[in-house]
Amino acid sequence: MEFSIKNQSIDKVRSGCLVVGIVEGKKLTPSAKAVDQASAQALSHLLKQGDLPAKAGKTLLLHHLTGVAAARVLLVSAGPGKALEEREFRTLVRSAVTALDGTGATSALFCLAEVPVKGRDEAWKLEQLVWVARETAYRITRVADQQDPPCTLTEILLPPSPALKPAALHTLLQRSSAIANGQDVARDLANLPPNLCTPTYLAERAKAMGKEWKLKVDVLERSDMEKLGMGALLAVSAGSRQPPKLIAMHYQGTDKKKKPVVLVGKGITFDTGGISLKPAPDMDEMKFDMCGAASVFGTLQAVAEMRLPINVIGLVPTCENMPDGNATRPGDIVRSMSGKTIEILNTDAEGRLILCDALTYAQRFEPATLIDVATLTGACVIALGHEATGLFANDDSLLAELQAAGNATGDRAWPLPLWEEYQEGLKSNFADLANVAGRPGGSITAACFLANFTKTMRWAHLDIAGVAYRAGKEKGATGRPVKLFCHYLMQQCAR
Ligand code: BES
Ligand code: MN
Ligand code: ZN
Repeated sequence: MEFSIKNQSIDKVRSGCLVVGIVEGKKLTPSAKAVDQASAQALSHLLKQGDLPAKAGKTLLLHHLTGVAAARVLLVSAGPGKALEEREFRTLVRSAVTALDGTGATSALFCLAEVPVKGRDEAWKLEQLVWVARETAYRITRVADQQDPPCTLTEILLPPSPALKPAALHTLLQRSSAIANGQDVARDLANLPPNLCTPTYLAERAKAMGKEWKLKVDVLERSDMEKLGMGALLAVSAGSRQPPKLIAMHYQGTDKKKKPVVLVGKGITFDTGGISLKPAPDMDEMKFDMCGAASVFGTLQAVAEMRLPINVIGLVPTCENMPDGNATRPGDIVRSMSGKTIEILNTDAEGRLILCDALTYAQRFEPATLIDVATLTGACVIALGHEATGLFANDDSLLAELQAAGNATGDRAWPLPLWEEYQEGLKSNFADLANVAGRPGGSITAACFLANFTKTMRWAHLDIAGVAYRAGKEKGATGRPVKLFCHYLMQQCAR
């Protein structure tokens, strides 16, 4: 789906459709007014007849209005006259794209940024418009001959913005499209079945992405991990026939000497739980246990496409968690790369094991900031449901910056504590640490486990177990938190 700017009086635009917002009771939005005037008050008459309900997001598609060059006009209700909530604005865009999908209108002029949204400016509305349109047009790539028909709306035109200069508007469209592309990369990877999306496959994809976007990509093999003493990562991989990989993707957008932001994404391509086997129902969802990794891939591509003046490294520890004769047993003790020994009491708490070695490895890049992202705990889903990412940081300004990036994009995160008191549960009689504490505060104790490996660094942890994918009829990956990451990194460039 392409976005471009169309500088022409609205009644003259020869696109497949004009999309205009209607605010109930109020005067028509400027573009609706222009259509109304060009069409001898056709809109006013229709609205008087009550053909468009006042509920935000209701639509009415009109054909061949006299006086209007476009073949169609889509009226989109913007509700009963108050400034919209953010989610209502997103509904507006989603319903407009849905209403045009399957019609003959392959291109449409969207005038929806005229609709007021509480506390939000033009730039916010345009960025959301791009993202929501792209998300609505997204299709899962099926592993089948028959694919779902693609969205028929392939071109969105936008009128020049009253608030933004042409160059700023152009950059905004370019960047929000790059972020949407990155989000699609994350969704596509995560939606693949676990027999195809293996650690080896992820490593291949990283190399291909490196070629396309000029990233330096290194892949550590099992033998490298053995040499580095990554006993925790290797313990998770022990029960799998698939070799583990540690992927490093380097994007250099500024002076080499500038310290990088390092993103670490959990890449468990399938989590059976290992010997602490998970119950059968919904176990298929554990193919999404590499969504953290997928979001790092997507973010790196977006950052490269935007050519941000910043250095970013994406690190992806990836393996399978399988039960097998060679699998790690509950009670096994392993030595992590940091030197700390870990008593593995539950092999299903594997994410923190691969992450602790990756976080230790990340130290060698001397990160300005280190952020890991993981579908780490079911407890996070219980705590925050499917809206908010669980957010932890050992630095208050970093916590605030990440939360702000979430608020700015709608890809929101909510803070949870990392207090020392929570370390108590991770004590072991036999090793430096146990890999699980009790059930209470499960996402917090998981984060506290990781905190033991990041003491020397400015570090944050994002638990995306509740937000990275949807279950049920709408099953599929969301691509979160690519938007949060991209805004955070854009903000870092501005500093
Ligand atoms: N990948 C899971 C966490 C998860 C659960 C993600 C549900 C998405 C949806 C993780 O590896 C796991 O199994 N965690 C355990 C930890 C427990 C054994 C301490 C959990 O949450 O049950
Ligand atoms: Mn697990
Ligand atoms: Zn897992």
